Amino acid sequence: MDRTEQRAQAIEATMADIRAIEQQHGVNRSSLAKMRERLMQLAARTDLFTLADYPPPEPGGKRTSCLYRLAEDADHRFALYANAASGHYGTPAHNHTTWAVIVGVEGEELNRFYDRTPENGVSEKGQHVVRQGTGVSFMPDDLHSIHIDGQLLNFHMYGFGLEQLERREYYKLDEKAWAIFPPHTDIREARAALP
Ligand SMILES: [Fe+2]
Repeated sequence: MDRTEQRAQAIEATMADIRAIEQQHGVNRSSLAKMRERLMQLAARTDLFTLADYPPPEPGGKRTSCLYRLAEDADHRFALYANAASGHYGTPAHNHTTWAVIVGVEGEELNRFYDRTPENGVSEKGQHVVRQGTGVSFMPDDLHSIHIDGQLLNFHMYGFGLEQLERREYYKLDEKAWAIFPPHTDIREARAALP
């Protein structure tokens, strides 16, 4: 079996297990921790997932990061992306309106966690650097921001495909107001077989 086939098989097995976790345990912090553990097993396959396989955008372009869609069901559930970045990339605090899991493959992604304040602002409550062997997970209303500097490859997984998440909110610090998170502009199709 060549690397492409091995990768397709490893992704398929991971997706099957994650679907089963959601089916058996629902969506709660404990089931998300199980999904995160399972996704970390996939991320440990650094022989199959490298920045050479999923290169970030060329330097000098508009974006310093892009997403490769590795899996997504025909009904847009269980969407798995490889996030490849090179250089500085960050987001404001935002939610996802579905569950989300992030695990590290190569490089580091700082995650900051926030509470919504009684004044409808945000207040940071902690942080975690996602790297190989670690991960974070979020319930649909949880808030985080990500901060990347340098070469990065990690996995981002969502209960629904990003194109379906039209009501994600982010906090505009300068205006002290919430707004709808704009859609990602560089998602590249990388599924071995389309559903
Ligand atoms: Fe996010």
